[in-house]
Amino acid sequence: MIEENESIEKTDLWQYVEKHKLQIEKSLREFLPLAPPQIETKFNEAVDYALFSGGKRLRPVLTLLGAELFGGKPETFLPSAVAAEFIHTSSLIFDDLPCMDNADERRGKTSLHGHFGEGLAVLVALGFLNASYHLVFVNHENVPQRAIRAHAEIVECVGASGMLGGQSIDLALAKGAGVDFAREDIYKFESVRNLKTSALIRLALRVGAILSGANSAELANLSRFAAFLGDAYQLGDDLIDLEEDDEIFSENKTFAINQGKSNVQLQLKNLTEQARLVLTDNFASSEARICLIQLTDYLAERKF
Ligand code: IPE
Ligand code: MG
Repeated sequence: MIEENESIEKTDLWQYVEKHKLQIEKSLREFLPLAPPQIETKFNEAVDYALFSGGKRLRPVLTLLGAELFGGKPETFLPSAVAAEFIHTSSLIFDDLPCMDNADERRGKTSLHGHFGEGLAVLVALGFLNASYHLVFVNHENVPQRAIRAHAEIVECVGASGMLGGQSIDLALAKGAGVDFAREDIYKFESVRNLKTSALIRLALRVGAILSGANSAELANLSRFAAFLGDAYQLGDDLIDLEEDDEIFSENKTFAINQGKSNVQLQLKNLTEQARLVLTDNFASSEARICLIQLTDYLAERKF
């Protein structure tokens, strides 16, 4: 779960996270996409390994907050919160594969393919995606129109305009040679630069909101907030990478490196401010709104 940062006081956000974290962990386990164990046990081990290895669970918290912003009770939206974490998990697995980012480690442990092999890693990532599509449908049959919209949202998030498109940009950047022009071009557009991170953050928030009955104007405002939050999150993450790993400088592949640290810090501050304004200008004050504002501030300041 998200860990409390020493510099941040115990606030509504941390009380909120504290209140829901056990339920989130329990639901993640309840909805695990497992194979019949008498047929294959490694798959199930790999599913467990991928999901329970220290993720902050930011996305499920966002789904619950997205729902609460529109009056939904968090208990009703746990399966969708799980769906958001499943999609995130699958994107991390794909991202780490030798044919993508080729990362040996994830969250300080051997990456999934390093531990279980590439074939199984691909299957597990697909298993998580598949389960996420299923979860929003089967748990919201009482509001079929909303379930259909939430489902469409997931399809869009995973597709070419979201996660897959974002991964293909990462792939082009990782290959380096011959994509300098593309890189310049990509970095001009913040929303494109952060396609994958932003798409997943937007999805997590909007699925909760859609299922709890937000209208299109409300969803559009939520998307604007999500775009700022997604950009802030990715920039913050790039900064942490910079601080943790000097070698990254030589790879020259993140926005933070291209822009320089102080520029990035300034941008981060701007993005946080803009995110806050979208919320305060468009949504009535509520616990969920306070939590989302605090979350934005926290993500801009976090050190992990
Ligand atoms: C990692 O996200 C990938 C990015 C979008 C920067 P998280 O830092 O939220 O991943 P967890 O906490 O390990 O799940
Ligand atoms: Mg991280």
